[in-house]
Amino acid sequence: MTAKKTVQRSGIRKIAINTGGGDAPGLNAVIRAATLAAINRGWEAVGIRDGYHGLFLPEQYPDGGLIELTRARVRGITHIGGTILGTTNRGNPLHYPMVDKRGRVYEKDRSDEIMRAFRREKIDALIAIGGDGSLSIANAFAEKGLRVVGVPKTIDNDLEQTVITFGFDTAVSFATECLDRLHSTAQAHKRIMVVEVMGRYAGWIATECGISGSADAILIPEIPYDLKRVAEKIEQRDRMGRHFSIVVVAEGAKPIGGAVSVVSKEPGRADRLGGVGEKVAEELQSLTGKEARAVVLGHLLRGGSPTTFDRLLSLRFGAAAVRALAEGQSGVMVALDPPTVRYVPLKKVAGRMKRVPLDCDMMLTGRELGICFGD
Ligand code: F6P
Repeated sequence: MTAKKTVQRSGIRKIAINTGGGDAPGLNAVIRAATLAAINRGWEAVGIRDGYHGLFLPEQYPDGGLIELTRARVRGITHIGGTILGTTNRGNPLHYPMVDKRGRVYEKDRSDEIMRAFRREKIDALIAIGGDGSLSIANAFAEKGLRVVGVPKTIDNDLEQTVITFGFDTAVSFATECLDRLHSTAQAHKRIMVVEVMGRYAGWIATECGISGSADAILIPEIPYDLKRVAEKIEQRDRMGRHFSIVVVAEGAKPIGGAVSVVSKEPGRADRLGGVGEKVAEELQSLTGKEARAVVLGHLLRGGSPTTFDRLLSLRFGAAAVRALAEGQSGVMVALDPPTVRYVPLKKVAGRMKRVPLDCDMMLTGRELGICFGD
């Protein structure tokens, strides 16, 4: 079909693309694929800076809150981490933090202002690339009448309805490489190395890197832990002449009857998790009498070049998002359903979380390898 006919049939002349929440390797690849697929249909593409901020807080952007996405602008970015559009996980427009005259912080729904800004900029449709929070916001805009297609991004892999999110493979591959590196130093010093990984309230990163990287114990949010079980595992290894152990802890893991370690809470954003690795290391040291060290991989998991898997997935997702708009779809998210991609309603994704099923074969494999899950 010619570009002119695609414009006529879809009723779309201009689309916007934004990236929201924590960055993940592959964002730029999605932006490139979506931009080229749009331009090849005769559409114009613009990027919104920093989530929705470029659209509804234009005063903060002297050079403009929107970036024109041309072929030249997206050239050579497939393999680059981060996002050329910028992103934010502050200031959810549905719960935007405002300060009243007395200096008190309150939350305001600013979505109508954003809807007006979309109309003002003559944007016909939005491709929202994000995780749970961003896709819930995208769903709210779809319900207000904007044509929206979501693309599932997060290193945490905790989104429902898609086999995998982009960014996850890169994060797990890097975490596994870190575990490989920690083995030799742990062995040399006969230490317990506790490795804290991101993942929020789901244990995908911890489980997959832990099993692949031969961890001795893996603690995940899905299984509240008892460190006595982990100490028993470490002591059993000692008796077998294995005087070091590697323990992977998901940032959202918590002890039986205890709470998740939260670093800070702020209005308009998700709680910041962290600190569990240090706590686990201290407690294991006192339970076993062995020296323990904690390593936090943290934001390193979000950096670097996407793996081949993530690059290809991101390019497929970006192109599929534009295809969905061209087909007249809206209020959907692109999802991987091998060997293809499909579209699922955003409302089936918004506000939900995909956790590690305890009876899946990956967990059974871990247990059959003798890995302790703290239970
Ligand atoms: O959701 C992605 C993620 O990296 C989580 O794994 C982590 O809890 C969070 O973002 C960290 O966010 P921030 O960049 O605000 O520290």
